[in-house]
Amino acid sequence: MAIQFQKEKRLFTLQTAHTTYQMKVDDFGFLLHLYYGGKTKGDMDYLLTYYDRGFSGNPNDAEGDRTYSLDTLPQEFPVMGTGDYRSSALIIQNGDASESCDLRYLSHEIRKGKYGLKGLPAVYAKEEEAETLEILLQDAVSRVEVRLLYGVLEKEDIITRSAKIVNQGEDRIIVEKAASACLDFVTGEYDLISFYGRHAMERNFQRNQILHGSYVIGSRRGTSSHQYNPAVILAGKDATEDTGKCYGMVFVYSGNFMCEAENDQFGQTRIIMGMHRDLFHYPLVKGQELIIPETILSYSDQGFGKLSRQYHNCIREHLCRGKYKDQTRPLLINSWEASYFDFTGETILNLAKEAAELGIDMVVMDDGWFGNREDDNSSLGDWQVNEKKLGCTLKELTDRVNELGVKFGIWIEPEMISEDSVLYREHPDYVMQIPGRKPIRARNQLALDFSRKEVRDNVFAQICSVFDQGNIEYVKWDLNRSLSDIYSLENYPGRVIYDYVLGVYAFLEKLQTRYPDMLIESCSGGGGRFDAGMMYYSPQIWCSDNTDAVDRVRIQYGTSFFYPVSTVGSHVSAVPNHQTGRSVSLRTRGIVAMAGTFGYELDPAKLSAKEREEIKEQIREYKKYAELIQNGDYYRLSDPFHDPYGAWMFVSKDGRQALVSVVVLEIHGNMPVNYVHMKGLEADSLYEDMDTKRCYYGSDLMEAGMPMPSAMEEYPTYQIVLRKKG
Ligand code: GLA
Repeated sequence: MAIQFQKEKRLFTLQTAHTTYQMKVDDFGFLLHLYYGGKTKGDMDYLLTYYDRGFSGNPNDAEGDRTYSLDTLPQEFPVMGTGDYRSSALIIQNGDASESCDLRYLSHEIRKGKYGLKGLPAVYAKEEEAETLEILLQDAVSRVEVRLLYGVLEKEDIITRSAKIVNQGEDRIIVEKAASACLDFVTGEYDLISFYGRHAMERNFQRNQILHGSYVIGSRRGTSSHQYNPAVILAGKDATEDTGKCYGMVFVYSGNFMCEAENDQFGQTRIIMGMHRDLFHYPLVKGQELIIPETILSYSDQGFGKLSRQYHNCIREHLCRGKYKDQTRPLLINSWEASYFDFTGETILNLAKEAAELGIDMVVMDDGWFGNREDDNSSLGDWQVNEKKLGCTLKELTDRVNELGVKFGIWIEPEMISEDSVLYREHPDYVMQIPGRKPIRARNQLALDFSRKEVRDNVFAQICSVFDQGNIEYVKWDLNRSLSDIYSLENYPGRVIYDYVLGVYAFLEKLQTRYPDMLIESCSGGGGRFDAGMMYYSPQIWCSDNTDAVDRVRIQYGTSFFYPVSTVGSHVSAVPNHQTGRSVSLRTRGIVAMAGTFGYELDPAKLSAKEREEIKEQIREYKKYAELIQNGDYYRLSDPFHDPYGAWMFVSKDGRQALVSVVVLEIHGNMPVNYVHMKGLEADSLYEDMDTKRCYYGSDLMEAGMPMPSAMEEYPTYQIVLRKKG
């Protein structure tokens, strides 16, 4: 039993393979958090302390006991209005406009299997792999109910949390703030690790000490954003890549989010993950409910590396879905950096011919195939094939591509509309726009109001009529601006930012149901919506619009803290690189792209015969290791923000094979030698280097490392294949 309830003490204990999570209902019916961390055995309520603290209020029914205050006690789901002056997980505005809520325990239920969330992505598991705890809390005055949901995946060391807010009272309430997880720590000093960035330079690692005050990251962009990823690590002061205690919080949601970390007046730490407060005022009338997107929690006492692998397994096995979840992904060539908007059907066919010759599985026709789209100023919303531009029908094109033994994929951007489009001229009312105000433009495009079913249905019908024309086996779902002008002609403005994301999910679910064999790769100007929510619908996401191999080493490093390599869209592009102007060898570009779903984003016709041969060899190599890369355990061997090289390795689940990749980032005269320390090997086993045939003990490669050769070129790369002997 992963979830236990001790009736006399009203104490809940959630156990995973290596962690314990405990909470209790106290005498007043408040749900107090006791502990989350490495495995413990007993009742942890001895950790609670009670002192008379000035200026920390006492609930009325504590009957004058000045030592009882929710301002100082650790809580599971702190709400505004109980005398707790720290950040709240929930703020409700009642019918009389007061902001107060007083949640007390009513009942609970423990059941087999993992709960699901209607309309939202969530971790899933087989009946026997997980347990669910649902705790019902209620405010006796407003009759607002909160159902706290806990999913325990014992083997995976994963605990998920979500909550449902249900209004059972007569008055309409407004949910002003809602989070799905709060972790309170009565002691300890922590850092917050978050991943910030910008378009074409996403997920940079940042570690901040949590000091007195509140440290907040989040997104108000309608998407999870390039600027901050909705996933953080709470790290003990001494935690490193391989040692120390750390906690992860991953929000399974693709819209606005907020993560707050706070060190309170007594040095206690609170961290909250949930919806962003701004632009969110969700009304609930009697009987209505709001589901707060899930947060995935995990804990490691062996540093960030182990924490990452726990998340990789969880996301790969229990969040990604569909036919391609476990299959090695088609190796693709994409037309974007090969020809941008300047292509015809012949161009795509030529790419397919090259693909067939080089050993590439699929050609993807990117932006520019529909309406009158010759640049990014028009036609979004007009999802009709531009047969004049292609010089053929889509069916003719896909048939001819397939005849070459190559699969066909296509690009779409369903959530967007150009003012220069038939759809806009016919339905200006479909746009997300505040009446009387002119909407903000970005990339010269506007957003459709995806909170409205009618709008989604229009686009869905158009897109299906395209997909039904030919054999389309892959779709790249893009989104190329942040939302603004949050308003809807049909829905209350305070709920639109949330309903929009649910609309995107509903569309994706419908698409996946109608085309179960189609691989969906999502994208938002590269990695602007690279989050666990999207991974429920698309098992791979274009990681960044930056295809420069050197920048990618750092972008993919940041991405790897939570997201498995199988989700990371990564391609070899031309040099000089189109985003940075940098030239890096084909070999280095290949090895970096191999830490992802692998593909090409260039015009092979522009390559020399030697380069074409090299690509053929690169593809043969990749295919040999595709399964190991996609499903193996991933280890970071360096920090490319500080070390002079980037290095990572994959170890097969059976431990028999490993692939080590190293990219040297700095070259100087008379260079010191880089020693790469490997990880994840068995200390006592012998491993053969498949290139040199020399054998090494795992202990030697891990403890002492291996010297990398010195090279007379920029950004040289080394790849080492190890096979366990015996
Ligand atoms: C975004 C994507 C690119 C490409 C363009 C097309 O920027 O990230 O890969 O598809 O849109 O407009």
